[in-house]
Amino acid sequence: MCGIVGYLGGTKDPKEVIINGLKKLEYRGYDSAGVAIWNGKNFQRIRAAGKLKELEKQTTDLSFQGVVGIGHTRWATHGAPSERNAHPHQSGDITLVHNGIIENYLEIKEFLKSQEVYPSSDTDSELVAHLIRLQLQKTPHFLQAVREVRPLLKGAFALLVVCDRFPDEMIALKEGPPLVVGLGTNENFVASDVQALLSHTQRFVFLEDQEMAHLKGTHIDFYNSEGQKQTPVVQTLNWSPDLVEKQGFPHFMLKEIHEQPRAVAAAIEPHIHLETLSVKLKNVNFSHQTPRLHSTDKTDQTTEELFHDIERVFIVACGTSFYAAQVAKYYIEQIAKLPVETDIASEFRYRHPVVPPKSLFLVISQSGETADTLAALRLAKQLGATTMSLCNVKNSSIDREAHGHLYMNSGPEIGVASTKAFVSSLAVLNLFALALAKAKGVLSQSQEQEHVQALLSAPSQMEVVLAYDKYFNEAAHRLKLFKGFLFMGRGVSYPIAMEGALKLKELAYLHAEGYASGEMKHGPLALIDERIVVVMIAPQDEVYEKSISNLEEARARGGKVWLLTNGEASPFKTTTEAFLHLPKAHWAITPLLSVVPLQLLAYHLACALDHDVDQPRNLAKSVTVE
Ligand code: G6P
Repeated sequence: MCGIVGYLGGTKDPKEVIINGLKKLEYRGYDSAGVAIWNGKNFQRIRAAGKLKELEKQTTDLSFQGVVGIGHTRWATHGAPSERNAHPHQSGDITLVHNGIIENYLEIKEFLKSQEVYPSSDTDSELVAHLIRLQLQKTPHFLQAVREVRPLLKGAFALLVVCDRFPDEMIALKEGPPLVVGLGTNENFVASDVQALLSHTQRFVFLEDQEMAHLKGTHIDFYNSEGQKQTPVVQTLNWSPDLVEKQGFPHFMLKEIHEQPRAVAAAIEPHIHLETLSVKLKNVNFSHQTPRLHSTDKTDQTTEELFHDIERVFIVACGTSFYAAQVAKYYIEQIAKLPVETDIASEFRYRHPVVPPKSLFLVISQSGETADTLAALRLAKQLGATTMSLCNVKNSSIDREAHGHLYMNSGPEIGVASTKAFVSSLAVLNLFALALAKAKGVLSQSQEQEHVQALLSAPSQMEVVLAYDKYFNEAAHRLKLFKGFLFMGRGVSYPIAMEGALKLKELAYLHAEGYASGEMKHGPLALIDERIVVVMIAPQDEVYEKSISNLEEARARGGKVWLLTNGEASPFKTTTEAFLHLPKAHWAITPLLSVVPLQLLAYHLACALDHDVDQPRNLAKSVTVE
C-alpha cells in the first residue's frame, strides 16, 4: 500500500509538490511519512511517525536549494509504525522510497550481514538501499546498479531511488504496485497514483511490470522488461484537480456519499439508449487474446456473441467490491438465468478452484490494484476463462490485464471506505445482467424497458434518500451508546446488510454483523437484547413478509429495531425504534437506495465518536499487498 511521490525538474518548490502530492495519497496509508530533498550537498531526509500533518509540522520552516526530491506515506508491513521505520530509507549516498513487500528480505539480510552491513530499521525496504549502494561500488553507473539489484529482489515493489552522486537523476521501477510518471514542461513527476499529480499535469505514462523510468534533468528514458529503451505510451486524462478536493464538505466520504446520484448517472449513461430504453454495453473491447467461445470460425467475436456462449459466471473481489459481487449474483441468476459463483479473491486464489470451459470471470475493483483480486484474475486467465474487469481507475493493473472492460465511471474516490464506487458498480452490474440476458435470449423487450426506466430513476430516488443525512447527524449521539449492531436482510438486501456492517466496523470501530435474516434463529437471536440495534433492510419484494416476521422475532426479544423499507409505514411507525422510509423501486434498484442510509449511519456515528472518517485506523484504500 503506501504512497510515493517524486519530483525532478523545473521551478517548483519540491517540498510543496511532494507534500501536496502525499496528501492526495494518504488514503494509501498513514502510519508515517517522510521526504528526502536535495539541499545542495545531499538528499536531506525528514521523517515523522503518524499522519502527514506530523511531517508537515517538521518541514514548515525548512527550505531546500534543489529541485529534486522523493516522498512517502506508509502503511506498515515490515516493522511497526515509527519514525525509525518511516521512508525514505538511506544507505550511504542512496535514498529510496518503496511500496510493496520484499519477500526474500531474510535472505537479503543474511547476505548483508556477510558484508557487515547492519540495517538501522526493521523494514524490508531499507535492505534494498544497502544492496544498491553495494552494487554502486562495482559499477559507476547509477541506472546499471539499480538494474543489477532488481533480479535479487522477490516480491511486489514499486521503487523510487535517488543518489547524492547523481543529484539530477531519479530511477523509478515497478514490479507489482502501481507507478505513474507525470510529464510536465521542463519538469517531471512520479507517483503511485495520478491523483497526486493532477494539479501539475494531465499527461501520464503508466509503467508496466518490470519497466523502468530513468529521469535525468528534464529528460526521461523508459525501459522495457528486457532493459531496452522504448517509446512510452502517453495517456492524457481529463480529470480535473477539483475532483480530488473536498469542495466544502468536512470529509471526502461525505462528499462522495452526496456525489452518488451523479456517479450512478455517469455509470449507466454510456450503455443506455434513451429513445428505446435498451441496453448495449459500450467499449467492453474484448482483446484479441480472449479465449474464443463461439463455435463459428470468426476470429472477432462481438460481446453479444461471446455472452451468448457463456454458461457460468464467476465474480471475485475484496471488501465492499465483494458485496457488489454478491448483489450481482442475485441480478444475474434472476435476470439472465445463469449460474453465478462469487468468491473473496484471497480465497479464490488459494482454493484450487475449478473453472469450467465457457466461464466468464468478472473481477470488481475500484482501485484496480488490489493484490488478491489481481492474482485471482491472473489465475482465472491461466485456467482458460474469459475475463472481464469492472474498475473505477482506468489503466489500473486489473483494467489492463482483463480481456474485457467495464467502468464504474465514479471519478476519483478518496475516502478509504468505499461509497460511490459501490453504487456505481451496482448500477453497471444491473446493465451487465441485462446484457447477458439479452444475449441469452431470456429477456423480453418490455422487461428490458421497465428495468432501464427503473435504473434511470435511481439517481433522483437516491437524492431523496440522502435527506437522511440530517437525521443520522442527530441520531448518531443516541446510537453511539449501543453495544452492537446487527444488520439483517434477505435476497439482494443480504449483501447490503453485510456492507452496512462493514461500514460501521471500518469507521466507528463498533461490533457489527451482517446476516441473512433467515439465519437469525441459527445464532444471532442469542445476541439480541435491549443494547443491540437491529437494522432490518426489508424492501417490499417477494420475501418482504418473511423479513417482517424476522423483525417481530427480534422485537419480541427486546431488540431495538430500525426498519428500512419502501413498504407500508402504518404498522411499524409505533412498533419500531426508527422507521426509515425508502422510495418505491424495482427490486434490483433497492440496494442502491437502502445502502445510502447505512453509509450515513456509519459516517455520523464515526464523527460522533471523534474518529478520523477518511483515514480509519489500520486501513488503507488500495491494498496492493496480500
Ligand atoms: C480496501 C478498502 C475498501 C475496498 C477494498 C477493495 O479494503 O478499504 O473500501 O472495498 O479495499 O478495494 P478495490 O479497490 O479492489 O475495490
